[in-house]
Order: sequence, then C-alpha cells, then structure tokens
Amino acid sequence: MKALILDASRHTASVQDVSYPELGEGELLVKVHAVALNPVDALYVYHPLARTGRTVGSDFAGTVAAVSDSGIPSVQVGDRVAGFLQGACSSNERPGAFAEYVVCPADLVWRVPSSTTLEDASAVSLCALTAAQAVFFRLGLPAPFDWGRSEAADDARPLSFFIYGASSSVGLYAAQLIRHSAEAASRTVHLIGTASKARFPLLQAEPYSYDALVDYRERGWVQQVRSHSNDGFNYAFDCISEGPTVRQVSGLLRDGGRMAIVRSREGGAWEDGDLPVEPIYGAVWEGLGAEILYQNLVVPVSEDARRFAASFYRWLSSGAPVTPNPVRLMPGGLDKIVPDGFALLGSGSMEDRQRRRTEAWMKPISGEKLVYRIDEGGRDSQDQDSK
Ligand SMILES: NC(=O)c1ccc[n+]([C@@H]2O[C@H](COP(=O)([O-])OP(=O)(O)OC[C@H]3O[C@@H](n4cnc5c(N)ncnc54)[C@H](OP(=O)(O)O)[C@@H]3O)[C@@H](O)[C@H]2O)c1
Repeated sequence: MKALILDASRHTASVQDVSYPELGEGELLVKVHAVALNPVDALYVYHPLARTGRTVGSDFAGTVAAVSDSGIPSVQVGDRVAGFLQGACSSNERPGAFAEYVVCPADLVWRVPSSTTLEDASAVSLCALTAAQAVFFRLGLPAPFDWGRSEAADDARPLSFFIYGASSSVGLYAAQLIRHSAEAASRTVHLIGTASKARFPLLQAEPYSYDALVDYRERGWVQQVRSHSNDGFNYAFDCISEGPTVRQVSGLLRDGGRMAIVRSREGGAWEDGDLPVEPIYGAVWEGLGAEILYQNLVVPVSEDARRFAASFYRWLSSGAPVTPNPVRLMPGGLDKIVPDGFALLGSGSMEDRQRRRTEAWMKPISGEKLVYRIDEGGRDSQDQDSK
C-alpha cells in the first residue's frame, strides 16, 4: 500500500510503497478515505523526532476492512469510522495515519453517522478530543457524557469562559463542548473569544454562539476582552499558546480562575515568566493510554485519559452531537500533503505559515481544516479543481 513516509535526514516525507499493517488484539483495519492535517504533523516532519521510515499523520476516516480475530462486538466490517493515530512525532515507534490502510484500537474510533461525510469526519477526532480534554478532563467542567468522574454540576451561577484562538480547529470544538456542558448542567455560560473579524459571523452562529468576539489583531484587544467580564473570567483556553498569549490570557482570569493551553512550557513556544495563574497543559496523545516520548517530555500511561477518550468517542458515535469543522478539500492525494498542506501549516508557529502562494487552495488557514482524499488518490478533487 502507499503511505507518506518520514525522511528524517532531509526533513521531509514522501509517498512510498510499504507493507500492509498487521492487526493486533482489539484492533481494526481501516481503509482510509480521507485524512485531515494538524500542525503537529508538519512540525515533526520539518523538525523530526522520529526515525526515517515512520508513517506521518494523525487524523483519518474510512471504512472498517477487518477486525481482529477475537472479534469486536461493537464494530463490523464496512462500518464508517474516524479516529487518530500518532504519526511520526514521537521518538517511540507508533503507526501513523497518512496511508491507504491503518490499524487502530477499536475503542479509539467513533462511528460516523450517515449524515456526515468521511471528509468532514476526518476533521474531528484529534482536535475535538484535544478540546474535550481541556474543557472536561483538565478544567473540570461537567461533561455531557459519562466517563467515570462526575464534576459538581450543582452550582447554578452563570460562569464566564474566554477562548483565545476561537477560529482555530481546537477552538471551534471547544466552544461547542462548552455549550454542551452548560446545557447538561443547566448553567448559563458567557462565552467570549478572539478571532479575525472575517470569522465573526461563523462564530456568532450556532453551534458556537459566542456572546462577544474581539479581533486579536487590534491593538488593545486585551482591554476589549476584559471589558466583557466583570471581575475576570472563571475559565480560559488559549488555543494558540505562542509568544505573549499565555501571559496575556492568564491576566484575564479572576482569583481562582483556571486556564488550559495547547503548547507545553518545555516546547518554548510561549514567553515563560511569572504568571498570575499556572496554565494547565496536556497533550492529546494522553488519550492513547500509552507512554509517548514527545518534545522533551514523556507523556505517561494514563488509564483515566484513555477511558476519557473512549467515552468521548462513544458519545460522538451517538447521533452527531458535534458539528465537524468547516473543511477545505485539498486537490491531490497523499503526494500533495507535503508540498501544499504542510507548506500551509508551516514549521511550528502561526507566524511561520506561508502567505506567498496564489493558488485558490493555498490561502491561509482560517476557521477550517485541510482535508485530503486518499482512496481515490485525490482524483475527484483534482478533477473539480481543473474544471
Ligand atoms: N496539546 C495538544 O495536544 C494539541 C492538540 C491539537 C493542537 N495543538 C496545537 O494547538 C494549536 C492550534 O492548532 P489548530 O489545529 O487548532 O490550529 P489551526 O486551526 O491551524 O489554527 C488556525 C487559526 O489560528 C488563528 N490564529 C493564527 N495566528 C493567531 C494568533 N497570533 N492569535 C490568535 N489566533 C491566531 C487563525 O485565526 P483567524 O483566521 O481568525 O485569524 C486561524 O483560524 C497548534 O499550535 C497545535 O499544534 C495542540
């Protein structure tokens, strides 16, 4: 089969013929129809941690081609599923997703409802889980699904939540999950976010329903955000966590407020220093429930985090509770991911993202997910593109 394979010495990846993956106990073989790109996929091709030969990529959606010998009662051959793997971005051996077939644990996929295309479904798993971990697992808001820990939902006072990077892929899911939490707990949430002005109409509409939005590109955005809270926010989620943002966002919290971030202190993406509130970082890889050697830190085995991820994906399977992020279907298949998709994602920070290419599909990423079709070699989207 074909897969996108890391070349660590040349800091790139190319499409190669590799063996089909082998099914292990409790695993599924999935024929991949579409993959979605995440910044981490590009970051660790440009700055490799893994050895040459590893398959790149995280998010996939496709159909179940086989289940392990022992059988898995909840999944059948032909089911449409989506999930994520950890591609070539750790120094331990793990399978990646940008391939014609993948194997993955049966409890770490969700069943895609018939109303959702596999292209849309591919855009969900990694970023929605990242947002769910931040909102429920780390910040402790009550979840709309059972995962073995119940947070106190008896406080009926309204709460305020600030999301920096509201139009990012992670931010789009976080807003939806906060709305679900408020509904499940019958609690009012005042939701404030930052994004560029062009994304305000998207974010004001359902399912995000922001109460107020501020353009982070304007001078004085911090003051504008502050004016939307009485004495600071109860919660904040910095979905960018670069340069000054962690400090700026932490300064918007009230005493006892809690804040989650997406990039680790060890990674050095944000300015360290004295902060009024200690931000809570976590890697989505915790959901895999395995030890991951990642970016100067070890993500330890966490049965809790695995149970949380499996419970979240069971909930996603239950009638489309979450709207997939808007998708930009990119022309070409696996072979266009590095020259186009990774060029758009850049090599680490939002500032590094390319803004020079002029093709219609190469405009900067804003409130959307880049998706490639795999099983048709991207033929449909290429055809569309040439019309
Ligand atoms: N901890 C984890 O496990 C984990 C998991 C997933 C992602 N992440 C990290 O989270 C970050 C976001 O990932 P993503 O996939 O959500 O990104 P993304 O969707 O590619 O982010 C694009 C969005 O970022 C916004 N943006 C760009 N520069 C900004 C800035 N300086 N300030 C505010 N917003 C800015 C843009 O907003 P406008 O278009 O409105 O200007 C755009 O909509 C990445 O660093 C990623 O590596 C971490």
